[in-house]
Amino acid sequence: MKLLVTGGAGFIGSNFVRYVYKERPDWHITVLDKLTYAGDRKNLEDLDDSRFTFIHGDICDEQTIDKAVADCDAVVHFAAESHVDNSIRGPRLFLDTNIIGTYEVLEAVRKYGKRLHHISTDEVYGDLGLGSTEKFSEKSRYDPRSPYSATKAGSDHLVRSWIHTYGLEATISNCSNNYGPYQHVEKVIPRNITNIILGIKPKLYGEGKNVRDWIHAEDHSSAILAILEDGKLGETYMIGANGELDNKTLIQTILELMGKSPDDFEFVNDRPGHDLRYAIDASKIKNELGWQPKYADFKQGLTQTIEWYKQNEDWWKPQKAETEAKYKELGR
Ligand SMILES: NC(=O)c1ccc[n+]([C@@H]2O[C@H](COP(=O)([O-])OP(=O)(O)OC[C@H]3O[C@@H](n4cnc5c(N)ncnc54)[C@H](O)[C@@H]3O)[C@@H](O)[C@H]2O)c1
Repeated sequence: MKLLVTGGAGFIGSNFVRYVYKERPDWHITVLDKLTYAGDRKNLEDLDDSRFTFIHGDICDEQTIDKAVADCDAVVHFAAESHVDNSIRGPRLFLDTNIIGTYEVLEAVRKYGKRLHHISTDEVYGDLGLGSTEKFSEKSRYDPRSPYSATKAGSDHLVRSWIHTYGLEATISNCSNNYGPYQHVEKVIPRNITNIILGIKPKLYGEGKNVRDWIHAEDHSSAILAILEDGKLGETYMIGANGELDNKTLIQTILELMGKSPDDFEFVNDRPGHDLRYAIDASKIKNELGWQPKYADFKQGLTQTIEWYKQNEDWWKPQKAETEAKYKELGR
């Protein structure tokens, strides 16, 4: 198998590449990545050249993606602009990468008749609201509410239409919020772990009631591999690990695990249009593909993640000051 991974130098992409590299020793992996602020070549530096190739390039560039797809057997498409706050500050880049970039991936995959797995998010389904026990499933209605989720929804619709119209051999997965090593310090868990390491108080948006359904990036990776190998073509799979937690409890748990008082945080301005609750029903992938998450205990995964950020200050420190300066402008 010659696997092409777009966006493989980012957070989940690099976790997935390392996971496949370990689990499928006879596969060759090529990563195509633009190396935006969110991608880092160092995330993949331990991989051996005999089984791994890196291409520095943009998925929006037709010739680059065409050549990369021609040379592979299957594509897993992670490349995206991924941060909601950035999409509120400047949506245009999200349209370019998430919509046009996905279009270019689809056209190349169609031209060469390759297998595609498209990575998406639960945020395309909107907001479940607090107080309900409903969860998102493969049948949930699309209702994106931020520029980020609208462009991801757009990319899902493109993939679905290419499957229907052109018979593309593709699958889609919509996963909940990921955590784990190599996540950029702009995201809530690494932002606040690294704040505590630096003696800065963790920040809590609004009242902290918003609920997210956390999954470890390694569990997301094992689910993607299961779909790539055994998923039914044309289908969508929800991925989640029953990790529902409100943001206040999340910040307090991080503080507790790092030996601090659970009240040692500060409230900051809320994100405009902040969705209240996401939750995933992952029965389909569990029942059809026998997938199960390994990190069923969130505190265990979080403890390991905290340890990674403590041990890898050189990795995140160069990005920290600039990221916090952006947040300061937003009052967050
Ligand atoms: N982070 C989450 O919790 C989460 C949850 C569900 C789904 N997802 C999806 O998973 C995927 C990866 O998310 P992430 O958190 O790892 O994102 P990330 O921002 O950490 O990484 C994105 C990667 O894509 C690359 N990239 C961006 N634009 C590109 C372009 N035009 N051409 C080539 N490469 C480009 C970046 O350099 C980076 O390496 C995204 O599609 C995202 O929507 C993320």
